[in-house]
Amino acid sequence: MPEKHHNAKLPWAPGSLPLMLAPMQGLTNRGLRSLFIERVRPDVVFTEFVRVKASAKKNITENDRQEVVSTVGKVPLVVQLIGTDTEALLAAANTVQELGAEHLNINLGCPYGRMTSQTAGGALLREPQALARMLAALRREIRGSFSVKVRSGFDDPAQIFSLLPLFADSGIDFLVVHPRTVKQMYKGPADHGVTGAVVRQTPLPVIANGDVFSAAIGHRVLAETGAAGLMLGRGAIAHPLLFERLRGRYPDESTPAGKVDELRDYLQALLARYQTLFCGEHQILCKMKEVLCHVHDPEVVGLARQLKRSKSLAQFGELLTSS
Ligand SMILES: Cc1cc2nc3c(=O)[nH]c(=O)nc-3n(C[C@H](O)[C@H](O)[C@H](O)COP(=O)(O)O)c2cc1C
Repeated sequence: MPEKHHNAKLPWAPGSLPLMLAPMQGLTNRGLRSLFIERVRPDVVFTEFVRVKASAKKNITENDRQEVVSTVGKVPLVVQLIGTDTEALLAAANTVQELGAEHLNINLGCPYGRMTSQTAGGALLREPQALARMLAALRREIRGSFSVKVRSGFDDPAQIFSLLPLFADSGIDFLVVHPRTVKQMYKGPADHGVTGAVVRQTPLPVIANGDVFSAAIGHRVLAETGAAGLMLGRGAIAHPLLFERLRGRYPDESTPAGKVDELRDYLQALLARYQTLFCGEHQILCKMKEVLCHVHDPEVVGLARQLKRSKSLAQFGELLTSS
């Protein structure tokens, strides 16, 4: 097995097993991140992807500028960029670093139309040579940690193994692996056999991501893969307490009544933040409903369905407080 190096630039303490909140477009804005940090303190949080346009002079939006500096409680914030044009990505990396960003990540996984047709996100995996040039150029500009979040391949789940030398040679500090192909989107289970094989074949620290919906699954993934840490997406959006459960500080399963109380309490606290962060009833309701798309426990699915149908914030708030 290649020797693992410990890089001082990593956004987590050497030897710890970091639990990270995944980047999720539409969800992991600064309001949700700050709530998670206050309540369950992920070891590392990520921005939603910051889209880097090739042409625009101001190549990242004003809102993204606020997102990338919004750190809370000294929890390391990794800024994720997605884009296709190396020059524009370099300019954006410089901009966010000037604003104070310390940790940068490139999205090599997004499977959705606009990104894949522009050779950004997951589609970059189809062009390994261009990718190598892009990563090397970015590495020269990035002063803090530089990581990639990658799927197992574009359409071949073994493609990642051919990319590992490229990642190590580009000076990447750590990999986040979501072991599904880009083509697969979210179909089928995440194959953490691939994650384990990646861990064994690269000297870089590997963070395992995908389908960790309970503490038991998380512990199994860590044990079976030897990963350096976990990244939690949908499971944490449904249950922020998943972080505490993985640390053994909270029982793995709540009672049915407990689940309803937890959901209400979480959504009330999030709603309060969204009411100060977002403008207008419609936007706030839409943002709240995005969280509900990830709530599936049978004990709360009825409440979630009612909440998703609410037409006003007043109705939404009432459902959260009525018993
Ligand atoms: C609604 C949604 C938005 C997402 N947005 C991003 C994103 O902005 N950047 C990214 O790298 N991955 C994004 N992802 C992928 C997640 O970060 C994660 O890799 C994936 O959901 C698998 O992890 P999970 O099973 O723990 O959710 C998104 C996923 C979902 C469901």
